[in-house]
Amino acid sequence: MAEQQAAENIKFLDSDVPEFSAEAASDVARELYGVEGEFKRLYSERDQNFRIRQADGATVVLKFANSEEDPGVLDLQHQALIHIERRDPDLPVPRVIRTLAGDLIGTVDGPDGRSHIVRLLSYMPGIDLAEVAQTPELYRDLGATVARLDVALRGFFHPAADHVLLWDLKRAPELRRNTDAIADAGLRARVEAVLDHFTDDVLPLLGGLRGQIIHNDANAGNVLVAEDDHARIAGIIDYGDMVHGALILDLAMAAAGVTHHTDDPVGAICDVAAGYDAVLPLEAEEIDLLYDLVVTRVAVEYVICNWRIVNPTSSDIGHLIDFVGPFEKAFDQLLAVGRAGARDRLRRACQFPPYCPPTEEPDADADAVLDELIERRRRLLGPKQFLFYDRPIHVVRGDGVWLYSATGRRYLDAYNNVTHVGHSHRHVLRAISRQYAALCTNTRYVYRNILDYAERLTATIPDGPRVCVFVNSGSEANDIAWRMAKMHTGKTGAIVLEGAYHGGTDAIDAFSPGDLPADKIAAHIRTIASPDTYRGEFRGADAAARYAADADPAIASLDQAGLGVGAVMFDTSFVNHGIIDVPEGYLKAVVDKVRAAGGVFIADEVQAGFGRMGSHMWGCQSHGVEAEIVTLGKPIGNGLALGAIITTPEILASFTADTGYFSTFGGNPVACAAGAAVLDVIEREELLANARDVGAYLREGIRQISQKHSIVGDVRGAGMLAGVELVRDRVTLEPARAETKRLLNLMKDNGVLVGREGTHRNVLKIRPSMVFKRDHADQLIDALDRSLAEL
Ligand SMILES: Cc1ncc(COP(=O)(O)O)c(C=O)c1O
Repeated sequence: MAEQQAAENIKFLDSDVPEFSAEAASDVARELYGVEGEFKRLYSERDQNFRIRQADGATVVLKFANSEEDPGVLDLQHQALIHIERRDPDLPVPRVIRTLAGDLIGTVDGPDGRSHIVRLLSYMPGIDLAEVAQTPELYRDLGATVARLDVALRGFFHPAADHVLLWDLKRAPELRRNTDAIADAGLRARVEAVLDHFTDDVLPLLGGLRGQIIHNDANAGNVLVAEDDHARIAGIIDYGDMVHGALILDLAMAAAGVTHHTDDPVGAICDVAAGYDAVLPLEAEEIDLLYDLVVTRVAVEYVICNWRIVNPTSSDIGHLIDFVGPFEKAFDQLLAVGRAGARDRLRRACQFPPYCPPTEEPDADADAVLDELIERRRRLLGPKQFLFYDRPIHVVRGDGVWLYSATGRRYLDAYNNVTHVGHSHRHVLRAISRQYAALCTNTRYVYRNILDYAERLTATIPDGPRVCVFVNSGSEANDIAWRMAKMHTGKTGAIVLEGAYHGGTDAIDAFSPGDLPADKIAAHIRTIASPDTYRGEFRGADAAARYAADADPAIASLDQAGLGVGAVMFDTSFVNHGIIDVPEGYLKAVVDKVRAAGGVFIADEVQAGFGRMGSHMWGCQSHGVEAEIVTLGKPIGNGLALGAIITTPEILASFTADTGYFSTFGGNPVACAAGAAVLDVIEREELLANARDVGAYLREGIRQISQKHSIVGDVRGAGMLAGVELVRDRVTLEPARAETKRLLNLMKDNGVLVGREGTHRNVLKIRPSMVFKRDHADQLIDALDRSLAEL
């Protein structure tokens, strides 16, 4: 018959449970184990189990195995329980009780004439999970207990663990032949669709996930809750379905088991998963499969249940019929939420960032979602939190030189210099997470890595002793630098370039005049002309001296005002001025004048530092000038909030003479671990040499294509930094401001992210991470060529 054939596909689908009488069972218990007491039969799908309460109150479970049971599988269960007891003695799992002869199992002949293996386990007291209030606390503890079980089972091996098992989810595709037991055609089709999706899309991924021997059946029927605390798991029983499989299956079984007992099955899965994840952290691939695994498990349960109702092997199918209704409800509720919705909730529950599709996926809702996020930003962060691009990008992931949008579109990131060694660099990630796992505190304790890091940082400035002060941002570094300069020199005036930007603290805002009219510039600040040799006043051989001469009236004016010049501050890459080509000798000439007037040079290396300019680690070195105070930010921690000031012991002594200095987060061990990891990557991946090579290649490529596009007036820069100035006329140099903005957006549409800078906002700012390679440069050049053609 067709049903019989179908039944053969999986062992035990229709096999009988043993049928020992209570009398026979009590004889076996006495003779094999010396145990006597009050017997009660317990339900089991394929074994026959009796609970025996002994006179002294001790309670045990006598188990007669199905005659079909493989002795190796029973040994697997016993060895696993013994292993768990050794690894985590407090886990609430049964203990194996040996026979009087000291064996783990006994063998007896049953009433059916077949031989059955007998075992005795300690009894786990507790209430069925289904009978207590279903709460998030209970579900989290369920997840945590299953995770502890998995941790305890780590490293356990048994040759029988690959046995063939009905409830092994990997075998779900075989149940496709049994779905005709589901009478309702619509439901049958939905179950079949789930099984098909599992076969085609989920099963192939399972083999690539972490695997070990797992319990595989922590469903609500095998989970006991403490009588005195209904949020605490008191026992996990029934080790008969143990197999070798993906770790995540253990969580999936437990989560599927509670979906029948709640009105919010996805919420319940989230709680179980969060509990599991807190003990045994999940991987992204695992959390993203969890919904499908749970839905498949519910479908499998439903098929088997219906099949058994249609093909009963005993009259006792009442409990199966009771299961059907809740299964159907949970199944349809899960399907109603859908894969994407469930995945998002699960990710949030386990603190994973939002999902990023592995390949670009069309998403009809993407625009609406972006609009909603922009509106929320406006409401929560205020309207002046500016966004890049006319149509901003909803980013969810970064990897190396790539940024990914929520729809999986990838953009070549040639703009974000903070992730100096590439987005999510694994070396930095490991350093941060391992240090955080060990210790994160502040500089009022002694710890080694701040010293190791300070030693390495200062060694990059060979001339003279240097000391470090750690802060949390570029602005803060400049703020402290300015305080140092004032206290050391006793002078309170400063010089910066016109249009400079050095940060946003109250003091440093004065050093960032930007577009401010002269009368709005702070009284202690003097600005000098930007030494721009492309569109500035001086372009010839004497440009350095002539621009530098601008410092003379500035110094005189500060002296006249009774302030004196305490410092000159330069962004040594001149990024904010349009990545200008500064005439050789200019920086030194200005610094010499300031020093002669009693001031110091603060080299703001927030943009130029860590090898960006290719020739040296620090921008000031590429200008042939050492600074008294060097300030670091942006790239220093590859995205972690960190800043630093490197200076002389004398200046530090002046600064701390009266008060000392402390920053709660500055120089914390995690920040230092990030900083040291960035230095490792710069060295190991030879990123200065890469910056020189790829940067020169990139600029040359842009020069080549600019022959076709007359709007490109100038291509310049150094190391991994390029500025492309757009002009309406190559003779008058009329700035192409609006066109530059359009070009930026076209570049984005063509998959490449760049920024814009300069006094007239007409300079494309190309400032990729230091791991940018020649083929990335080729892609950028191609996109620029196409975008210029579309302008
Ligand atoms: C040259 C320069 N210095 C300082 C800063 C301020 O750094 P942060 O934003 O980390 O405070 C910036 C920021 O763009 C900068 O470009």
